[in-house]
Amino acid sequence: MLNSASARAHTNIALAKYWGKRDEELIIPMNSSLSLTLDHFYTDTQVTFDDSLTADFFELDNRILPATKLTPFLDLVRQKAGIKTFATVKSFNHVPNQAGLASSASAYAALAAAASKAAGLELTRPELSRLARRGSGSASRSIYGGFVEWQEGHDDLTSVAVPIEEETDWKIGMLAIILNAGVKKIASRAGMQHVVKTSPYYPAWVKESQADINALKQAIANRDFTQLGEISESNALRMHALNLAARPPFSYFEASTIRAITMIEELRAQGVSCYYTMDAGPNVKVLCQEEDLPTIKAYLAPAFGTENLLFARPGQGVKFLEGDLHG
Ligand code: DP6
Repeated sequence: MLNSASARAHTNIALAKYWGKRDEELIIPMNSSLSLTLDHFYTDTQVTFDDSLTADFFELDNRILPATKLTPFLDLVRQKAGIKTFATVKSFNHVPNQAGLASSASAYAALAAAASKAAGLELTRPELSRLARRGSGSASRSIYGGFVEWQEGHDDLTSVAVPIEEETDWKIGMLAIILNAGVKKIASRAGMQHVVKTSPYYPAWVKESQADINALKQAIANRDFTQLGEISESNALRMHALNLAARPPFSYFEASTIRAITMIEELRAQGVSCYYTMDAGPNVKVLCQEEDLPTIKAYLAPAFGTENLLFARPGQGVKFLEGDLHG
């Protein structure tokens, strides 16, 4: 066989975070999470199943990389489709790699869509979400646009993302402050595993997470930006508090992270409504309303440089692309 398909998926920013697994193999989380899919950061992936190949091949941004991580994921697809053919995976990442901007979310969502289609499967969006989840938990949410909830569930069938509001007309977005675009120190997979095992606050985190999701849903329904921001910021800080309370402790914060956070708090004290969140990396992401963007950028630019301030609006769910990818 020689079958090819391409897909684009956008990354997402969690406003109520996923930080810990109940099942490492199936990637079933300890708690549900809620995110906003972003338009500016995405991955394009083409998968070609080719009978003449003797192994899987992976090319990212025109560089050949080992396919070791992809093969187990492609095996899931091959198993579902009843084929044994190897594949070439060609990706172009429009997300700063591994800097806590969740490039694995868009990567596995695009891979799930492209690989399943190329293998001849016609998966529904819930099926795509469950498949993407097996690559990276946060990828389950990138199948949908706008506000999305990944319902924790209790097994492979029930742990799936559902859209809350796919096409949102709310003029909000996320300003990413790129403080360090390098590879993160502790991969999220290892970080979350360590806190589940050693952080004494972990049960409290799980217990409170559903209340945050409920409050965020209410904020979305009421277009209450203050509530959306306050809950998101607090949820992010609680996640990072788990890391500080682990043994041995760890942190994704760098000096510039604290500087950025302080500046967001200063802006807020001046009456500008903006809130921060952070993931498994030092970069700070500012949740804001579009009308405040010029003020926020003007305040942050002297400290971090305009080129390091990247704004994204709510983005779309996964979609298939026509033709070959060329970057
Ligand atoms: C901090 O989805 O990258 O971004 O499932 O192990 O691949 P794995 O983890 P991943 O973790 C994302 C963690 C987070 C929070 C979030 O996106 O919910």
